[in-house]
Amino acid sequence: MDSNKNLSRRKFLQSSAVTAAGLGFGATSLANMAYDPNTGIATDPTARTRKNHSPNDKIVMGLIGCHGMGAANMRNLMQFDDVEFVAICDVDTARMPDEIKQIEKVYGKKPDIYTDYRKMLERKDIDAIIVGSPDHWHALNLIHACEAGKDVYCEKPISHNFVEARSMMNCKEYHKRVVQVGTWQRSTKEFHDAIEYIRAGKLGKITHCRAWAWDGTRIGKGKVETPPSTLDYDMWSGPAELLPYKSNKTHYNWRWVRNTGGGITTDWGVHMIDIALLGMSKGLDLVMPDTVSSYGGLWASDGDDRDAWDSIESIMRFPDQNFVMTWSILRDHPGKDGNGAEFVSQDGRTLRVWRGGWIILDADGKELPKESAEPQDSNHWRNFLDCVKSRQAPRSDLHSVGQTTMVCHMANMAAYSGKTVKFDKKKMDIVGNDGKGNLSYSREYRKGYTLKKY
Ligand SMILES: NC(=O)c1ccc[n+]([C@@H]2O[C@H](COP(=O)([O-])OP(=O)(O)OC[C@H]3O[C@@H](n4cnc5c(N)ncnc54)[C@H](O)[C@@H]3O)[C@@H](O)[C@H]2O)c1
Repeated sequence: MDSNKNLSRRKFLQSSAVTAAGLGFGATSLANMAYDPNTGIATDPTARTRKNHSPNDKIVMGLIGCHGMGAANMRNLMQFDDVEFVAICDVDTARMPDEIKQIEKVYGKKPDIYTDYRKMLERKDIDAIIVGSPDHWHALNLIHACEAGKDVYCEKPISHNFVEARSMMNCKEYHKRVVQVGTWQRSTKEFHDAIEYIRAGKLGKITHCRAWAWDGTRIGKGKVETPPSTLDYDMWSGPAELLPYKSNKTHYNWRWVRNTGGGITTDWGVHMIDIALLGMSKGLDLVMPDTVSSYGGLWASDGDDRDAWDSIESIMRFPDQNFVMTWSILRDHPGKDGNGAEFVSQDGRTLRVWRGGWIILDADGKELPKESAEPQDSNHWRNFLDCVKSRQAPRSDLHSVGQTTMVCHMANMAAYSGKTVKFDKKKMDIVGNDGKGNLSYSREYRKGYTLKKY
């Protein structure tokens, strides 16, 4: 992903979302619908003809964090007749006009506007919310929403750090909320087919898994400025350290700054590591490594304002299942998609899956026949709505993606500490102190912000 690609991805997200809205909405089954590989937005226009819906069935929703993926999720949910958005919240009022227009167009009235999500959560008429804020805000947004009795569609990675993830997972259980995480790859055909193929044992005994993503992002050298008048930068920083404002470290680019994000490991890695873990697990409770080591550095983008490493190689041991997994941030992966996952069997066969396809190769690289799994019953956003009604665990249940998120945090903890991180799944904690002394494990919250320990 270079900066140009980044820019076009963002432009695409905005333009495709607008296109989707322009086509109207409907509640067709979206199980195998074509989707955009960057945003998850369905690209089949026949599925989008809005019908009248019964008010009794409606799930009333609000959005925290507009314009980026939060807005894309809102548009995906607006495809369904049984949803109504009544409120949106952002700490930057310049990020909201498109979403206001969208809601007015679909529901015939403007949403209520908030800049403090806690005020929005006080409303009794809201059943569920989207958390589409940057990662450093997810824990507080989600915990406060669960405490207010809301169900949540929460973006990935579930948290900025390991300790937050554990609190969020326990909080969701305690308050008995339904939380779907935005790892929408779990609902697409190629990943579903690949996972089911591995789970059925058709590739034989798996000894190695690989997950990778390419990170060529440059954010440049910004200058310290006064934040724009539309942005409450103090609130945007929230529990994180209040750094001097630079526009190249704020909207979208926060993910390359360790104060607010975890680099590509928690950005794309969480999607791809998730697939590897799911394939090696029986259900939603995932296999977890007991040992993680990582090496790397800020080598390709040395000299700009980012501090999340652009090059990492992690190796993870899964002793109970007798396999190892690598997570790689690497530039050159000839013949492969920029992001993906692979399963390698003892007899040398490889199953490779990426956004857009999957293949099985023999030991010489010759493609072998593959088999599709039974289709899944609904798309990712529909699955959330169905589970809000049935109170069942959704496909990307918070607990399950919380486990993947913890694995990503462990890879970062090992990288930035230079220590091998050991994990105890029964305690859901790190063994000893190695890796704990960095931002991927926990952080001191800024004055005025508290992480409740569940
Ligand atoms: N599932 C996916 O495929 C996918 C794709 C992209 C991004 N994401 C995730 O979506 C989330 C948002 O990413 P993005 O790229 O859209 O970021 P972004 O910076 O473009 O947008 C985030 C928005 O949240 C607002 N915000 C910040 N703090 C807030 C607060 N306390 N209350 C209300 N609004 C607040 C910001 O002003 C901004 O408008 C991240 O967690 C990211 O990892 C997921």
